[in-house]
Amino acid sequence: SKAPITVAVTGAAGQIGYSLLFRIASGALFGADQPVNLRLIERNDEKALSALNGVCMELDDCAFPLLNSITPTCELDVGFQGVNWAILVGSVPRGPGMERKDLLKINGGIFTGQGKAIEKNAAGDVRVLVVGNPCNTNCLIAMNNAKGVPADRWFAMTRLDENRAKSQLAAKAGVHHSTVSNLAIWGNHSATQYPDFFNAKIGGKAATDVISDHDWLKGEFISTVQQRGAAIIKARGLSSAASAANAACDTVHSLTRPTPEGDWTSVAVCSDGSYGIEKGLMFSFPIRTDGNKWEVVQGVPVNEFSQAKIKATETELREERDAVTELGLI
Ligand code: NAI
Repeated sequence: SKAPITVAVTGAAGQIGYSLLFRIASGALFGADQPVNLRLIERNDEKALSALNGVCMELDDCAFPLLNSITPTCELDVGFQGVNWAILVGSVPRGPGMERKDLLKINGGIFTGQGKAIEKNAAGDVRVLVVGNPCNTNCLIAMNNAKGVPADRWFAMTRLDENRAKSQLAAKAGVHHSTVSNLAIWGNHSATQYPDFFNAKIGGKAATDVISDHDWLKGEFISTVQQRGAAIIKARGLSSAASAANAACDTVHSLTRPTPEGDWTSVAVCSDGSYGIEKGLMFSFPIRTDGNKWEVVQGVPVNEFSQAKIKATETELREERDAVTELGLI
Protein backbone atom coordinates (compact mmCIF):
# COMPACT_ATOMS: atom_id res chain seq x y z
CA SER A 1 0.00 0.00 0.00
CA LYS A 2 1.01 3.66 -0.48
CA ALA A 3 3.02 5.61 2.11
CA PRO A 4 0.75 8.01 4.01
CA ILE A 5 0.53 11.70 3.09
CA THR A 6 0.87 13.94 6.14
CA VAL A 7 -1.52 16.88 6.36
CA ALA A 8 -1.46 19.64 8.97
CA VAL A 9 -4.62 21.62 9.66
CA THR A 10 -4.57 24.70 11.88
CA GLY A 11 -7.71 25.88 13.62
CA ALA A 12 -8.67 22.23 13.64
CA ALA A 13 -11.29 22.60 16.37
CA GLY A 14 -13.13 25.38 14.54
CA GLN A 15 -16.17 25.29 12.29
CA ILE A 16 -14.34 24.63 9.04
CA GLY A 17 -12.13 22.07 10.72
CA TYR A 18 -15.21 20.18 11.82
CA SER A 19 -16.13 19.57 8.18
CA LEU A 20 -12.67 19.48 6.64
CA LEU A 21 -10.99 16.86 8.82
CA PHE A 22 -13.62 14.23 8.11
CA ARG A 23 -13.39 14.85 4.38
CA ILE A 24 -9.60 14.52 4.45
CA ALA A 25 -9.76 11.37 6.55
CA SER A 26 -12.35 9.80 4.26
CA GLY A 27 -10.15 10.21 1.17
CA ALA A 28 -11.81 13.21 -0.51
CA LEU A 29 -8.51 15.03 -1.14
CA PHE A 30 -6.02 12.39 -2.11
CA GLY A 31 -8.13 9.47 -3.26
CA ALA A 32 -9.57 6.23 -1.99
CA ASP A 33 -6.22 4.40 -1.89
CA GLN A 34 -4.14 7.09 -0.17
CA PRO A 35 -3.62 6.83 3.62
CA VAL A 36 -3.22 10.10 5.55
CA ASN A 37 -1.67 11.26 8.80
CA LEU A 38 -3.46 14.24 10.36
CA ARG A 39 -1.53 16.78 12.43
CA LEU A 40 -4.09 19.03 14.08
CA ILE A 41 -3.00 22.38 15.42
CA GLU A 42 -4.94 24.59 17.83
CA ARG A 43 -4.23 27.55 20.08
CA ASN A 44 -2.69 26.87 23.46
CA ASP A 45 -6.02 27.44 25.18
CA GLU A 46 -7.86 25.02 27.42
CA LYS A 47 -11.21 25.34 25.67
CA ALA A 48 -9.73 25.03 22.17
CA LEU A 49 -7.64 22.00 23.11
CA SER A 50 -10.59 20.34 24.81
CA ALA A 51 -12.69 20.88 21.70
CA LEU A 52 -9.85 19.48 19.61
CA ASN A 53 -9.72 16.43 21.83
CA GLY A 54 -13.43 15.92 21.19
CA VAL A 55 -12.91 16.15 17.43
CA CYS A 56 -10.13 13.55 17.68
CA MET A 57 -12.49 11.26 19.60
CA GLU A 58 -15.01 11.59 16.77
CA LEU A 59 -12.35 10.91 14.15
CA ASP A 60 -11.47 7.74 16.09
CA ASP A 61 -15.14 6.83 16.16
CA CYS A 62 -15.36 7.02 12.38
CA ALA A 63 -12.79 4.21 12.07
CA PHE A 64 -11.77 5.66 8.70
CA PRO A 65 -9.81 3.01 6.77
CA LEU A 66 -7.44 5.64 5.33
CA LEU A 67 -6.68 7.51 8.56
CA ASN A 68 -3.25 6.31 9.66
CA SER A 69 -2.58 8.60 12.63
CA ILE A 70 -3.87 11.72 14.41
CA THR A 71 -1.57 14.15 16.25
CA PRO A 72 -3.37 16.93 18.11
CA THR A 73 -1.05 19.68 19.34
CA CYS A 74 -0.62 23.35 20.14
CA GLU A 75 3.09 23.28 19.32
CA LEU A 76 3.98 24.36 15.80
CA ASP A 77 7.21 22.33 15.66
CA VAL A 78 5.18 19.21 16.37
CA GLY A 79 2.23 20.19 14.19
CA PHE A 80 4.23 20.87 11.02
CA GLN A 81 6.67 17.98 11.45
CA GLY A 82 7.13 16.24 8.11
CA VAL A 83 3.95 17.64 6.56
CA ASN A 84 3.35 17.37 2.82
CA TRP A 85 0.35 19.68 2.94
CA ALA A 86 -0.39 22.45 5.45
CA ILE A 87 -3.91 23.84 5.39
CA LEU A 88 -3.92 27.02 7.45
CA VAL A 89 -7.48 27.65 8.59
CA GLY A 90 -7.09 29.15 12.06
CA SER A 91 -6.97 32.91 12.13
CA VAL A 92 -8.62 35.79 13.90
CA PRO A 93 -11.41 37.22 11.76
CA ARG A 94 -12.29 40.89 11.96
CA GLY A 95 -14.56 41.59 14.92
CA PRO A 96 -16.84 44.54 15.57
CA GLY A 97 -14.90 47.76 16.02
CA MET A 98 -11.61 46.14 15.01
CA GLU A 99 -9.41 48.28 12.76
CA ARG A 100 -8.01 46.64 9.64
CA LYS A 101 -4.51 47.35 10.94
CA ASP A 102 -5.23 45.57 14.24
CA LEU A 103 -6.49 42.59 12.29
CA LEU A 104 -3.39 42.44 10.11
CA LYS A 105 -1.19 42.78 13.21
CA ILE A 106 -2.88 39.95 15.13
CA ASN A 107 -2.82 37.64 12.14
CA GLY A 108 0.70 38.76 11.35
CA GLY A 109 1.81 37.23 14.62
CA ILE A 110 0.11 33.95 13.75
CA PHE A 111 1.34 33.67 10.16
CA THR A 112 4.95 34.78 10.72
CA GLY A 113 5.30 32.03 13.33
CA GLN A 114 3.57 29.44 11.17
CA GLY A 115 5.69 30.34 8.13
CA LYS A 116 8.89 29.89 10.13
CA ALA A 117 7.68 26.62 11.64
CA ILE A 118 6.73 25.27 8.20
CA GLU A 119 10.15 26.15 6.81
CA LYS A 120 11.85 24.43 9.75
CA ASN A 121 9.76 21.30 10.07
CA ALA A 122 7.80 20.44 6.94
CA ALA A 123 8.66 17.84 4.30
CA GLY A 124 10.76 18.96 1.31
CA ASP A 125 7.72 18.84 -0.97
CA VAL A 126 5.40 20.82 1.33
CA ARG A 127 2.54 22.76 -0.20
CA VAL A 128 0.56 25.30 1.80
CA LEU A 129 -3.06 26.40 1.37
CA VAL A 130 -4.19 29.40 3.42
CA VAL A 131 -7.93 29.57 4.15
CA GLY A 132 -7.98 31.83 7.24
CA ASN A 133 -8.82 35.44 6.42
CA PRO A 134 -7.53 37.75 5.16
CA CYS A 135 -6.21 34.70 3.31
CA ASN A 136 -4.19 36.32 0.50
CA THR A 137 -2.26 38.52 2.88
CA ASN A 138 -1.92 35.87 5.58
CA CYS A 139 -0.38 33.66 2.91
CA LEU A 140 1.91 36.50 1.80
CA ILE A 141 3.15 36.86 5.39
CA ALA A 142 3.74 33.12 5.88
CA MET A 143 5.50 32.79 2.52
CA ASN A 144 7.82 35.72 3.25
CA ASN A 145 8.75 34.17 6.59
CA ALA A 146 9.67 30.85 4.96
CA LYS A 147 12.06 31.84 2.20
CA GLY A 148 13.44 28.29 2.08
CA VAL A 149 10.10 27.03 0.75
CA PRO A 150 9.78 27.92 -2.96
CA ALA A 151 7.17 30.56 -3.82
CA ASP A 152 5.24 28.18 -6.08
CA ARG A 153 4.19 26.08 -3.07
CA TRP A 154 1.98 28.77 -1.52
CA PHE A 155 -1.72 29.12 -2.23
CA ALA A 156 -4.62 31.15 -0.81
CA MET A 157 -8.18 29.98 -1.30
CA THR A 158 -10.57 31.58 -3.80
CA ARG A 159 -12.24 28.34 -4.82
CA LEU A 160 -15.30 29.00 -2.70
CA ASP A 161 -15.79 32.16 -4.74
CA GLU A 162 -15.39 30.19 -7.97
CA ASN A 163 -17.92 27.60 -6.82
CA ARG A 164 -20.35 30.31 -5.70
CA ALA A 165 -20.03 32.07 -9.06
CA LYS A 166 -20.63 28.84 -10.99
CA SER A 167 -23.71 28.11 -8.96
CA GLN A 168 -25.10 31.63 -9.55
CA LEU A 169 -24.51 31.44 -13.31
CA ALA A 170 -26.08 27.99 -13.52
CA ALA A 171 -29.17 29.12 -11.60
CA LYS A 172 -29.60 32.13 -13.89
CA ALA A 173 -29.20 29.99 -17.02
CA GLY A 174 -31.46 27.26 -15.63
CA VAL A 175 -28.83 24.55 -16.06
CA HIS A 176 -26.84 22.28 -13.76
CA HIS A 177 -23.75 23.87 -12.22
CA SER A 178 -21.54 21.09 -13.57
CA THR A 179 -21.98 22.59 -17.05
CA VAL A 180 -20.25 25.85 -16.02
CA SER A 181 -16.49 25.96 -16.73
CA ASN A 182 -13.65 28.44 -17.15
CA LEU A 183 -14.73 30.59 -14.22
CA ALA A 184 -11.76 32.65 -13.09
CA ILE A 185 -11.72 34.57 -9.84
CA TRP A 186 -9.20 37.39 -10.12
CA GLY A 187 -7.49 39.00 -7.14
CA ASN A 188 -8.30 39.11 -3.47
CA HIS A 189 -10.66 36.84 -1.54
CA SER A 190 -12.64 39.88 -0.45
CA ALA A 191 -15.41 42.13 -1.67
CA THR A 192 -13.10 43.43 -4.44
CA GLN A 193 -12.62 40.03 -6.09
CA TYR A 194 -13.64 39.81 -9.73
CA PRO A 195 -15.62 36.73 -10.83
CA ASP A 196 -14.88 36.80 -14.56
CA PHE A 197 -18.12 35.96 -16.39
CA PHE A 198 -16.77 37.20 -19.73
CA ASN A 199 -14.55 34.13 -20.09
CA ALA A 200 -16.88 31.68 -18.32
CA LYS A 201 -18.59 28.98 -20.37
CA ILE A 202 -21.93 27.29 -19.92
CA GLY A 203 -22.23 23.99 -21.75
CA GLY A 204 -19.16 25.00 -23.75
CA LYS A 205 -20.71 28.29 -24.95
CA ALA A 206 -19.80 31.79 -23.78
CA ALA A 207 -21.80 32.62 -20.64
CA THR A 208 -22.52 36.03 -22.16
CA ASP A 209 -24.26 34.25 -25.10
CA VAL A 210 -26.25 31.92 -22.85
CA ILE A 211 -27.29 34.66 -20.40
CA SER A 212 -28.67 37.63 -22.32
CA ASP A 213 -29.12 39.83 -19.26
CA HIS A 214 -25.71 41.50 -19.29
CA ASP A 215 -26.77 44.12 -16.77
CA TRP A 216 -27.34 41.28 -14.32
CA LEU A 217 -23.90 39.83 -15.10
CA LYS A 218 -22.15 43.16 -14.64
CA GLY A 219 -24.10 44.10 -11.54
CA GLU A 220 -26.06 41.70 -9.40
CA PHE A 221 -24.04 38.61 -10.33
CA ILE A 222 -20.75 40.16 -9.25
CA SER A 223 -22.13 41.67 -6.06
CA THR A 224 -23.94 38.45 -5.12
CA VAL A 225 -20.69 36.51 -5.36
CA GLN A 226 -18.73 39.22 -3.55
CA GLN A 227 -21.31 39.45 -0.75
CA ARG A 228 -22.18 35.77 -0.46
CA GLY A 229 -20.15 35.31 2.72
CA ALA A 230 -22.07 38.10 4.42
CA ALA A 231 -25.39 36.67 3.17
CA ILE A 232 -24.56 33.28 4.72
CA ILE A 233 -23.69 34.91 8.05
CA LYS A 234 -26.99 36.77 7.96
CA ALA A 235 -28.98 33.62 7.21
CA ARG A 236 -27.15 31.14 9.42
CA GLY A 237 -25.82 33.34 12.19
CA LEU A 238 -22.45 31.74 11.53
CA SER A 239 -19.99 32.08 8.68
CA SER A 240 -19.88 29.58 5.85
CA ALA A 241 -18.05 26.50 7.02
CA ALA A 242 -19.11 23.32 5.18
CA SER A 243 -18.88 25.08 1.82
CA ALA A 244 -15.51 26.54 2.78
CA ALA A 245 -14.23 23.11 3.81
CA ASN A 246 -15.57 21.70 0.55
CA ALA A 247 -13.73 24.40 -1.40
CA ALA A 248 -10.50 23.58 0.44
CA CYS A 249 -10.95 19.92 -0.60
CA ASP A 250 -11.64 21.02 -4.19
CA THR A 251 -8.53 23.22 -4.19
CA VAL A 252 -6.17 20.47 -3.06
CA HIS A 253 -7.89 17.98 -5.35
CA SER A 254 -7.48 20.30 -8.35
CA LEU A 255 -3.84 21.14 -7.55
CA THR A 256 -2.87 17.47 -7.33
CA ARG A 257 -4.54 16.21 -10.51
CA PRO A 258 -4.32 17.32 -14.14
CA THR A 259 -6.75 20.14 -14.98
CA PRO A 260 -9.41 18.98 -17.48
CA GLU A 261 -8.57 19.91 -21.07
CA GLY A 262 -9.51 23.47 -21.95
CA ASP A 263 -10.61 24.39 -18.43
CA TRP A 264 -8.93 26.20 -15.54
CA THR A 265 -9.44 26.72 -11.83
CA SER A 266 -8.96 29.62 -9.45
CA VAL A 267 -6.48 29.94 -6.62
CA ALA A 268 -4.34 32.79 -5.35
CA VAL A 269 -0.64 32.29 -6.10
CA CYS A 270 2.49 34.43 -5.93
CA SER A 271 2.22 36.71 -8.98
CA ASP A 272 4.98 36.36 -11.57
CA GLY A 273 3.83 39.58 -13.24
CA SER A 274 1.28 37.91 -15.51
CA TYR A 275 -1.51 40.23 -16.66
CA GLY A 276 0.49 43.18 -15.31
CA ILE A 277 -0.13 42.20 -11.68
CA GLU A 278 2.70 43.30 -9.44
CA LYS A 279 5.18 40.49 -8.85
CA GLY A 280 5.09 38.94 -5.39
CA LEU A 281 1.45 39.71 -4.55
CA MET A 282 -0.72 36.71 -3.68
CA PHE A 283 -3.26 37.12 -6.44
CA SER A 284 -5.98 34.78 -7.68
CA PHE A 285 -5.58 33.84 -11.35
CA PRO A 286 -6.91 31.20 -13.72
CA ILE A 287 -4.54 28.28 -13.16
CA ARG A 288 -3.80 25.01 -14.94
CA THR A 289 -1.73 22.14 -13.61
CA ASP A 290 -0.49 18.68 -14.54
CA GLY A 291 -1.05 17.75 -10.89
CA ASN A 292 2.44 18.80 -9.87
CA LYS A 293 3.61 21.97 -11.66
CA TRP A 294 1.03 24.70 -12.11
CA GLU A 295 0.97 27.70 -14.40
CA VAL A 296 -1.07 30.86 -14.78
CA VAL A 297 -3.16 30.44 -17.93
CA GLN A 298 -1.90 33.03 -20.41
CA GLY A 299 -3.87 34.89 -23.04
CA VAL A 300 -7.23 34.95 -21.29
CA PRO A 301 -8.98 37.97 -22.83
CA VAL A 302 -9.24 40.93 -20.46
CA ASN A 303 -11.48 43.69 -21.79
CA GLU A 304 -11.83 47.20 -20.41
CA PHE A 305 -14.54 46.21 -17.92
CA SER A 306 -12.46 43.32 -16.59
CA GLN A 307 -9.28 45.38 -16.50
CA ALA A 308 -10.86 48.00 -14.23
CA LYS A 309 -12.10 45.28 -11.83
CA ILE A 310 -8.73 43.51 -11.83
CA LYS A 311 -6.89 46.76 -11.11
CA ALA A 312 -9.22 47.55 -8.21
CA THR A 313 -8.58 44.23 -6.49
CA GLU A 314 -4.83 44.54 -7.18
CA THR A 315 -4.86 47.97 -5.55
CA GLU A 316 -6.45 46.50 -2.43
CA LEU A 317 -3.84 43.75 -2.25
CA ARG A 318 -1.01 46.28 -2.65
CA GLU A 319 -2.47 48.28 0.23
CA GLU A 320 -2.62 45.17 2.42
CA ARG A 321 0.95 44.30 1.41
CA ASP A 322 2.11 47.85 2.23
CA ALA A 323 0.38 47.69 5.61
CA VAL A 324 2.06 44.42 6.63
CA THR A 325 5.39 45.70 5.31
CA GLU A 326 5.01 48.78 7.49
CA LEU A 327 4.26 46.55 10.45
CA GLY A 328 7.52 44.73 9.77
CA LEU A 329 5.76 41.41 9.15
CA ILE A 330 7.36 40.76 5.78
P1 NAI B 1 -13.75 29.35 13.81
O1 NAI B 1 -13.61 30.57 14.66
O2 NAI B 1 -14.89 28.42 13.99
O3 NAI B 1 -12.42 28.45 13.99
C1 NAI B 1 -11.15 29.00 13.97
C2 NAI B 1 -10.30 28.10 14.85
O4 NAI B 1 -8.95 28.55 14.71
C3 NAI B 1 -10.65 28.18 16.32
O5 NAI B 1 -10.83 26.86 16.82
C4 NAI B 1 -9.43 28.86 16.95
O6 NAI B 1 -9.16 28.36 18.25
C5 NAI B 1 -8.36 28.46 15.97
N1 NAI B 1 -7.18 29.33 15.97
C6 NAI B 1 -7.11 30.67 16.12
N2 NAI B 1 -5.85 31.08 16.12
C7 NAI B 1 -5.09 29.99 15.94
C8 NAI B 1 -3.70 29.77 15.87
N3 NAI B 1 -2.84 30.78 15.99
N4 NAI B 1 -3.25 28.50 15.70
C9 NAI B 1 -4.11 27.48 15.60
N5 NAI B 1 -5.44 27.63 15.69
C10 NAI B 1 -5.93 28.87 15.85
O7 NAI B 1 -13.62 29.87 12.31
P2 NAI B 1 -14.01 29.08 10.97
O8 NAI B 1 -15.42 29.34 10.65
O9 NAI B 1 -13.50 27.70 11.03
O10 NAI B 1 -13.15 29.94 9.91
C11 NAI B 1 -11.74 29.95 9.95
C12 NAI B 1 -11.19 31.03 9.03
O11 NAI B 1 -11.51 30.75 7.68
C13 NAI B 1 -11.71 32.42 9.30
O12 NAI B 1 -10.62 33.33 9.23
C14 NAI B 1 -12.65 32.68 8.15
O13 NAI B 1 -12.77 34.05 7.89
C15 NAI B 1 -11.94 31.94 7.06
N6 NAI B 1 -12.77 31.61 5.88
C16 NAI B 1 -12.18 31.70 4.64
C17 NAI B 1 -12.88 31.41 3.51
C18 NAI B 1 -12.24 31.52 2.16
O14 NAI B 1 -12.96 31.36 1.17
N7 NAI B 1 -10.96 31.75 2.01
C19 NAI B 1 -14.30 31.00 3.58
C20 NAI B 1 -14.81 30.90 4.91
C21 NAI B 1 -14.07 31.21 6.02
